[in-house]
Amino acid sequence: MATQFLVVAFVVLFSASSRRADTLNNTPLRSSCSGNYSTGNSIIRANIDTLFSSLNSRSPFSNFYNITAGNGTDTVYGLYMCEGDLSSDDCRSCIGAATSDILEQCPSSRQGIIWYDYCHLRFADQNFFGIMDSRGFPMINPSLRSTIRSCLSRFYLDL
Ligand SMILES: *[C@@H]1O[C@H](CO)[C@@H](O)[C@H](O)[C@H]1NC(C)=O
Ligand SMILES: *[C@@H]1O[C@H](CO)[C@@H](O)[C@H](O)[C@H]1NC(C)=O
Ligand SMILES: *[C@@H]1O[C@H](CO)[C@@H](O)[C@H](O)[C@H]1NC(C)=O
Repeated sequence: MATQFLVVAFVVLFSASSRRADTLNNTPLRSSCSGNYSTGNSIIRANIDTLFSSLNSRSPFSNFYNITAGNGTDTVYGLYMCEGDLSSDDCRSCIGAATSDILEQCPSSRQGIIWYDYCHLRFADQNFFGIMDSRGFPMINPSLRSTIRSCLSRFYLDL
């Protein structure tokens, strides 16, 4: 709780400072998966693949997109969001990482969400469009993250 408060305080304090990292780090910050489909269910998997391929082909042109794939009970819903001022190249590469990492982290999941510094992607077998997701977590200003990281590593080295 205290840590979360500190993080929020830092974000508020530093959000005005320059936030673009020198090179974008497409390492997932966090992911969350739920509900497995049976490994024999090739339809939902095919729909997820179609969904991700649509999201990937859209990402160079838009920083936000939502779409569905499939029909009936196997319909899957997906969306991504890139930070508003992310370049189209960086959005494309972030979503490219997201669609591949989420399949690694959430294999055979009916629902999954993955967060990065500059984008996030979510899919589900239920319609969540326009529904507020309360499972957020505190995001740290990326330029600040490296500062915290180097402070922490110095701290651990000193131990
Ligand atoms: C889903 O599958 C993964 C790995 O196959 C397993 O670790 C996990 O416990 C399963 N979750 C549910 C809710 O069945
Ligand atoms: C995207 O989401 C909105 C609701 O927020 C919905 O009205 C729209 O149909 C969705 N677009 C697609 C392609 O599913
Ligand atoms: C669902 O999609 C499949 C493949 O795209 C198609 O063959 C089928 O006719 C569709 N079913 C309905 C009810 O639209």
